[in-house]
Amino acid sequence: MTNTLERTPKLETKLPAVGTTIFTVMSTLAAEKGAVNLGQGFPDFECDPQLVNAVTGAMTRGLNQYPPMTGVPVLREAISAKVAKLYGHRYDANSEITITAGATQAIITVILAVVHPGDEVIVLEPCYDSYVPNIELAGGKVVRVPLTPGTFRPDFGKIAAAITPRTRAIIVNSPHNPSATVWSEADMLALQDLLAPTEVLLISDEVYEHMVFDAAQGRIHQSAARFPGLAARAFIVSSFGKTYHVTGWKVGYVAAPAPLTAEFRKVHQFNVFTVNTPVQYGLAAYMADEQPYLGLPAFYQRKRDLFRDGLAKTRFKLLPSEGSYFQCVDISEVSDLDEAEFCKWLTTEIGVAAIPLSAFYGNGFDQRVVRFCFAKKDETLNTALQRLAKL
Ligand SMILES: Cc1ncc(COP(=O)(O)O)c(C=O)c1O
Repeated sequence: MTNTLERTPKLETKLPAVGTTIFTVMSTLAAEKGAVNLGQGFPDFECDPQLVNAVTGAMTRGLNQYPPMTGVPVLREAISAKVAKLYGHRYDANSEITITAGATQAIITVILAVVHPGDEVIVLEPCYDSYVPNIELAGGKVVRVPLTPGTFRPDFGKIAAAITPRTRAIIVNSPHNPSATVWSEADMLALQDLLAPTEVLLISDEVYEHMVFDAAQGRIHQSAARFPGLAARAFIVSSFGKTYHVTGWKVGYVAAPAPLTAEFRKVHQFNVFTVNTPVQYGLAAYMADEQPYLGLPAFYQRKRDLFRDGLAKTRFKLLPSEGSYFQCVDISEVSDLDEAEFCKWLTTEIGVAAIPLSAFYGNGFDQRVVRFCFAKKDETLNTALQRLAKL
């Protein structure tokens, strides 16, 4: 007999389109099949022991209680100094920088702080999977503008056409997940010109800021902070998880002009309030050494080249990898399967997991391209390459 006292009320979902993500599906399948997981984007190697020591040192010194809501001052000051040195714009540590629980919490907090029901927010597809549900939770309308298929470059004509009086914000991500493209100075200047006459805010997701390759050819990270017209309207989001090989620590930050930061903090205060104290102190101490982040492009460029050299021997067509820790390949010469089926097949039959690009589009657009993550030990990459050599 059903106990009527124990009836669980039925919910009307707020996010009808959200199910189990492809990342979970592929990681589960990879584990089940013993495949090399080049799907989900996280390192399989350890972080610098000095960083762990800095964090445990903070714990043993008793820095274990709530920090200030905005983040510990030494970390905000270290970020302010670093951004000023690298990108030439000094954010005030007190009123313009807030420590967050990773970039994910930073982005949803920005969106909840600025998007009113019915506001439009432009996303450039393919895009990171949290943006769209975040906008929907805020009651906003998602306006999808495709990056140019094949090159993944921004199409400013299309972006301009998508801007309306209801546009509240545009989300830009460079270096880009999943395409591994990097916006140029000309791209940022074009964005600055386009937004100048508007009230549109910029949400600039720069979590891969220290993974930009081929500096010899003049490529650098074009932070929105470098462009005064963008910095004045931007929430810049970054994450220590990517930079220091500690994706599980979930600490990042938002830098934005004081009036924007003030609104951001109103929401931040009530959705997370504060972020892990000893990790913040540990990061602040570790940041005194510039080498770990200044050396990161070379560290990942070597892995990119190792991986690309191996893939060049297969029938995959390599797309450029200008930044981030991703490498996309065109699968047309290898298989007739669609992207998602191909990734399942590759995991099951070849023993290497990848992610279909269709997962980053609202309509599942299939362009025969899949994404690998090369933030892995050389031995992991070599094992994957040996398996992929069969293709
Ligand atoms: C483009 C992009 N933004 C944000 C995030 C989330 O970063 P965090 O782990 O700091 O929340 C990721 C992580 O994969 C990402 O690729």
